Amino acid sequence: MIRLAHLSDIHITAPKYEWRLRDWFSKRFTSWANHRFARGFLFAHAEEVVARLMEELPGRGIDHLIFSGDATALGFESEIRRAAQALGVGTQPIPGLAVPGNHDYCTKSAETAGHFEQYFAPWQQGRRIGEHRYPFAQQVGPVWLVGVNGATGNRWPWDAAGSVGAAQLQRLRHLLADLPSGVKILVIHFPICLSSGRREIWYHGLRDLDAVLDAARAGGVHLWLHGHRHAAYHLQTPDRAAFPVICAGTATQRRLWSYGEYTIDGSTLTALRRAYDPVARTFRDVETFALQLPVQDKAAVEGNS
Ligand SMILES: [Fe+2]
Ligand SMILES: [Fe+2]
Repeated sequence: MIRLAHLSDIHITAPKYEWRLRDWFSKRFTSWANHRFARGFLFAHAEEVVARLMEELPGRGIDHLIFSGDATALGFESEIRRAAQALGVGTQPIPGLAVPGNHDYCTKSAETAGHFEQYFAPWQQGRRIGEHRYPFAQQVGPVWLVGVNGATGNRWPWDAAGSVGAAQLQRLRHLLADLPSGVKILVIHFPICLSSGRREIWYHGLRDLDAVLDAARAGGVHLWLHGHRHAAYHLQTPDRAAFPVICAGTATQRRLWSYGEYTIDGSTLTALRRAYDPVARTFRDVETFALQLPVQDKAAVEGNS
């Protein structure tokens, strides 16, 4: 039996940004205006909420933390550094896994700068193919967590889509095929579908979703964990997938702030959703649910690897 904590979309910002001239002519400018005059209000308490969560988690018997992206608002280095510090990456005792979200690669230059990978490096340790950062796999008892990067630096202000890309997909197929038996959990920022079961709109979803689903199916994935959508949800059998999905939602957005604790025992996942209470300044239990993971072989369930 293992216990995971899953949080996402904390959207931490910083008091000062490292503006470059090119940023004013990129998506970053409109993203900044959107954050400054609209979204910023929703995340005004983000740092405080993360601090409270990180104080509480060590007492909750968590074996591993999963962070599924959107650490920042605009993908500036100062924001990424601050977010990694807030989460205690490399300093707090619970090991973690992290993948970036579309906000962390706000622009092409934010993607190529590699700041997310730099500051979240302790949460990106694991098995990988050669020197390539993504995908990577971490073992937690009988479970393999597989981190996949779906974020891409996009050009247009409205484009919040992502893709895994052919090269990473090829590596994902190899990585999944070579993993010793165990429960395989894919962690990526982007969803398979909305809470309604419908597909994401093209400028907000994973462009190569069908190919990623093919690779996941072929590689025997048992569960897909993601963020990106800020209201949490889960589906036992989403369309086109042979495994359940859980969207962590946002951990820090006003009124939506929550995270999930998952206990995996054999092929049963029991989830507890905990939401932030801004008056008591603590997290409280708000929902429980169970999912059946499509684990076929006994070795996987027992973790004989
Ligand atoms: Fe987000
Ligand atoms: Fe996102």
